[in-house]
Amino acid sequence: MNSYQKRTHTCGELRKDHVGKTVTLTGWVDVRRDLGGVVFIDLRDRYGKTQVVFAPQHAQQAHETAQALRTEFVISVTGKVELRPEGTQNSDLPTGDVDVVGAELTILNKAETSPFPIEDAIDVSEDLRLKYRYLDLRRPMRQQNLLMRHKASLITRSYYDRNGFIEVETPVLMKSTPEGARDFLVPSRMHKGKFYALPQSPQTYKQILMVAGYDRYFQIVKCFRDEDLRADRQPEFTQIDVEMSFVEENEVLAMTEGFIHELWKNLLGIVATPPFPRMSYSEAMEKYGSDKPDTRFGLEIANCSDIVAASGFKVFSETVKKGGVVAGFAIPGLAGYTRNQLDGLTDMVKSLGAGGLVYLRASGGKVESSVDKFVSPAEVKALADRIGAKTGDLGLFISGPWQKALTILGTLRLEMANRLNLIPEGKWNFLWVTDFPLLEYSEEEKRFVAVHHPFTAPKPEDIALLDSDPGKARARAYDLVLNGNEIAGGSIRIFNSELQSKLFGLLGIGLEEARQKFGFMLDAFRYGAPPHGGIAYGFDRLIMLMTGMKSIRDVIAFPKTSSGMSLMDDSPSGVDDKQMRELHIKAL
Ligand code: AMO
Repeated sequence: MNSYQKRTHTCGELRKDHVGKTVTLTGWVDVRRDLGGVVFIDLRDRYGKTQVVFAPQHAQQAHETAQALRTEFVISVTGKVELRPEGTQNSDLPTGDVDVVGAELTILNKAETSPFPIEDAIDVSEDLRLKYRYLDLRRPMRQQNLLMRHKASLITRSYYDRNGFIEVETPVLMKSTPEGARDFLVPSRMHKGKFYALPQSPQTYKQILMVAGYDRYFQIVKCFRDEDLRADRQPEFTQIDVEMSFVEENEVLAMTEGFIHELWKNLLGIVATPPFPRMSYSEAMEKYGSDKPDTRFGLEIANCSDIVAASGFKVFSETVKKGGVVAGFAIPGLAGYTRNQLDGLTDMVKSLGAGGLVYLRASGGKVESSVDKFVSPAEVKALADRIGAKTGDLGLFISGPWQKALTILGTLRLEMANRLNLIPEGKWNFLWVTDFPLLEYSEEEKRFVAVHHPFTAPKPEDIALLDSDPGKARARAYDLVLNGNEIAGGSIRIFNSELQSKLFGLLGIGLEEARQKFGFMLDAFRYGAPPHGGIAYGFDRLIMLMTGMKSIRDVIAFPKTSSGMSLMDDSPSGVDDKQMRELHIKAL
């Protein structure tokens, strides 16, 4: 026999058709109202809310118990479904036509007063919500987010399975893979002084699975990166990781577009029509100042270096002479921006590393600029024309090294779009960014580092550049961008051990070090590696964008704070001396 009445329906289920039926509901008390001796409660579970009425004339005992109810008490209630009296229906609730008239009531558990109300529109700090995450997760919006996440993982598995991919689990304790971030390390008890690394991604394993002949692999997998955290970055996050053999870029891109199309259609009812537009990295940087451009609005940047190459304004002409760039963009209708507002923008770009901000205003058929003393009227006019500034518009310009100046302009572009509310809702701009450089020179480390990762293949036509001018070689890499967010990235891989060794050499990884770190990969490539390539999606980012959230913390059940803490279980935390001794570790 049951110790309490088990539910016959969920709290989101009852409709007019159920009128007259006796039902049992279980759940949490959402609100309780005592109206002249009649107690009304909204009973909540994951499926919805139902109003239950306790009146003394219907059930004396249940009514008495109902008076003791408080929010978040867990109860089981049995009663008859009735049509709500005319005028009291609630059209906002799917169950709003009916009531359950409580006949039997069991309190299954009491609850302390919760530190914040369990409803969507609350104004409490994120820290408090993370500390009481189980209460935060009771809120309908959180539950919808996790439900969407669950459905997305089902669609992922179904799509890739239908396309011949198999899910293979790869180790969580592994040898460090260089993906650009810092590793999380796990000390070995059995091997003194040795460490496992947690995977930054399963990159090496998926490539080895290709060598092993698995042909098409995918995995929904946790990845770990000890890097500075932001709204779209967590120290542990989830990827949909994919690898395919005997493919070129177009096949990986098409398979990815098919998946995105299916996901958006099934979960949002939105058609994202492939093929998605493609843009080279250099075009993305020159037009949008970003390798993940938000193309939902204009404010496109224009390169003006040629106009000012011989300018009397030395800041411009010297920059161009040194190989840098002078570029800018027009902001419609802002010619009236005040000196104060422009000073604010100048401070902002300086804090990002710019030397300064040059502006022009087009008004009444005239163009005046902040550098009129140094730049000829013809030049100012040409600058205004190049950026497309019309009467009433403001133009903003930055000069400096190519990547730095354009990146700052990209940030400024987003800032102005936000200020002017230019970013439309409800637009889904998918975009491939391709032709990334293979390597970039790190001034800090005085060597080249891989832009994507060291296993990415150079473009065949650029292989000769690896000897003559490695910084110019382009990679067979691609990123999928959605509304200014990088949602996936991948590449065609090197599959030949000589080319791989050469790349390690360019990255300053000597023969000895390469053997020690990646001997297993180089060995594997000597035993018949097929051509292969793949991609990995940021699963949390996909769900964040699909649910319209601003942070991936909102779509992860138990996320860390921006300082890497889990406030609910208080980790990271100290451990016993005994554990430390066993692991041969001493805190400094
Ligand atoms: P990459 O490093 O570009 O590629 O990662 C793939 C995608 O994962 C997401 N992502 C993150 N999401 C949340 N928090 C983080 N800290 C974080 N870091 C990355 C991004 C990104 O596009 N092994 C390669 C893939 C490949 O080459 O196939 C890789 O991991 O959405």
